[in-house]
Amino acid sequence: MYKELAKYYDLIYHWKDYEAEANAVKELIEKYNRSDGKDLLDVGCGTGAHLKYFRKDFSCMGIDINNEMVEVAKGKFNNVVFKQGDMIDFNLEKVFDVVLCLFSSIGYVKTYSNLEKTFLNFANHLKKGGVLIVEPWFTKSTFWAGKPGMTTYDGDDVKIARLNTTKVQGDLSIMEMHYLIAEWEENIKHFVDIHELGLFETDKTLELMAKASLISEFLRDGLMKDRGLFIGVKM
Ligand SMILES: C[S@@+](CC[C@H](N)C(=O)[O-])C[C@H]1O[C@@H](n2cnc3c(N)ncnc32)[C@H](O)[C@@H]1O
Repeated sequence: MYKELAKYYDLIYHWKDYEAEANAVKELIEKYNRSDGKDLLDVGCGTGAHLKYFRKDFSCMGIDINNEMVEVAKGKFNNVVFKQGDMIDFNLEKVFDVVLCLFSSIGYVKTYSNLEKTFLNFANHLKKGGVLIVEPWFTKSTFWAGKPGMTTYDGDDVKIARLNTTKVQGDLSIMEMHYLIAEWEENIKHFVDIHELGLFETDKTLELMAKASLISEFLRDGLMKDRGLFIGVKM
């Protein structure tokens, strides 16, 4: 996923207002965090687009499974530590005041069994009173199975068209994405990227968070339409 696309990631998501989202998350941290430090970890951080807006107020670390994304992120900021790791079982031997997992990265763990391990891992990386903020993927009822999608980026030097199909198999949503990328004096590139994300139900997710010693709630109005946000405070 995103491997050859890492260097185009920020262009593909040029429409996303990361600054406004980071400001909304900061308000939630203010409201829920009960620990007294400023250590923040962004899991599934991608190219570090949210961390750009946290690094003034927090001591930041980002982790992502995809080394290409981590390399792009490392090239952007020198006051943020980026590591490669899988959210299910990474071990940073450090606890944080804030753990974030935004823009539906959590969906990539695919199964409830992995989701349970992931929440335990997040909880193990939180201080007592520390806050976890997770922006989920869709549930079976909010997902648009069968609907085609298109995203474009029309820059002076780079043009990108992404078309995708969507389907559901059991508790999994599958998106087949085809990218066409045109750049100065280069042949058109064509990439196919298949994304599989678990369609996790809200109640079941809250149950697994509670099992990981997190006092949890779901906020229906989150950062993006129909996704909501899970908040967990470490007991
Ligand atoms: C939709 S992107 C979101 C990236 C970033 N949070 C943002 O808001 O732009 C999902 C990210 O999750 C990462 N990812 C997927 N599975 C992961 C896993 N098991 N552990 C850590 N990161 C993962 C992907 O590599 C990708 O960078």
